[in-house]
Amino acid sequence: MTDYIGRQLYIQEVSLRDGFQMEPTFVPTEQKVALINRLGRTGLAKIEVTSFTSPKAIPALADAETVMRQIDRGAGVQYSALVPNVRGCERALSCNVDEMNLVMSASRTHNLANLRMTPEQSIAQFTEVVRAVDGTVSINASLSTAFGCPFDGDVSLQHVLSLIGRIIDIGIRSITLCDTTGMANPTQVQVLCAAAKASWPNAIFTAHFHNTRSMGLANAMAALMAGIDRFDASLGGLGGCPFAPGASGNVCTEDMVHMFHAMGCPTGIDLGALVEIARGLPRMVGHDVPGQIMKAGPFNRRYPPPEWLNELDLG
Ligand code: COA
Ligand code: ZN
Repeated sequence: MTDYIGRQLYIQEVSLRDGFQMEPTFVPTEQKVALINRLGRTGLAKIEVTSFTSPKAIPALADAETVMRQIDRGAGVQYSALVPNVRGCERALSCNVDEMNLVMSASRTHNLANLRMTPEQSIAQFTEVVRAVDGTVSINASLSTAFGCPFDGDVSLQHVLSLIGRIIDIGIRSITLCDTTGMANPTQVQVLCAAAKASWPNAIFTAHFHNTRSMGLANAMAALMAGIDRFDASLGGLGGCPFAPGASGNVCTEDMVHMFHAMGCPTGIDLGALVEIARGLPRMVGHDVPGQIMKAGPFNRRYPPPEWLNELDLG
């Protein structure tokens, strides 16, 4: 039941991509670079730096090449970027990404709305990218709407498993299961994650949850219990897909790290440093952010008792 205690977990920061892609105000390039450089010193396993998508589709990340080229690469941190097609792959290769995060949706309508391709066309793009990269760069595939689609509704377990199988057959063995609009519940998460791990024990699975319906950390817990040890999360709880109606923020990185540490699961992350960085986010994006720990402090925060207790006469 508690066999996860002591298990090393890997936290992958997505605020620079999943977070900023949704922000109406453009965060200046130098602020993005400074943020990535600070995050690179906190113990994160991976940072998704940006996306090589069309600047017309995602204007907030139109500076992808500049950001990728200007950042300092911290030791032990993987610097990844989202890639939707072969054109994105060429751009990513030109600035030496550590990993390409290919993206497609498990549901047809979200794939069309987000990428203007059918899932079949996305699989064809994946195949071409794998051929072009030829093993020189790590590749991860993110499967959006794997737990439900805001257009098509339910996405069946069998359908998701068959897509994972096709992605693995192309030669990609690192896969992220994304709950794009927070439709997943912990039972569903446990069933899909356990089935995926049982079917492909040598694949590397990441869980990617959005907190749209307040089930994000519960879903992370369910994934952990199903044996998942890699989690995407976003500083301050920013995030969301601009082409998925009703989308909102990812699970908040510092809240997730706080929970895992409290439960006895090490992440290698300096939580204090992470919270300090998160506190700068509202100024950067121009609005409050959903993160809780930056406001409440950690569970072991203590307050002095009220002064009047000293004068209380209990008889
Ligand atoms: N990077 C930059 N520009 C790109 C590009 C890429 N990866 N892929 C295509 N383009 C450009 C083309 O060069 C073309 O430019 P032009 O109008 O100046 O000639 C234009 O975009 C249209 O190309 P096309 O192949 O017809 O693409 P599209 O309009 O069908 O859009 C995507 C396809 C995938 C590029 C676009 O839908 C996209 O970037 N989506 C990203 C969605 C996203 O990031 N969602 C959130 C994350 S899940
Ligand atoms: Zn997401």
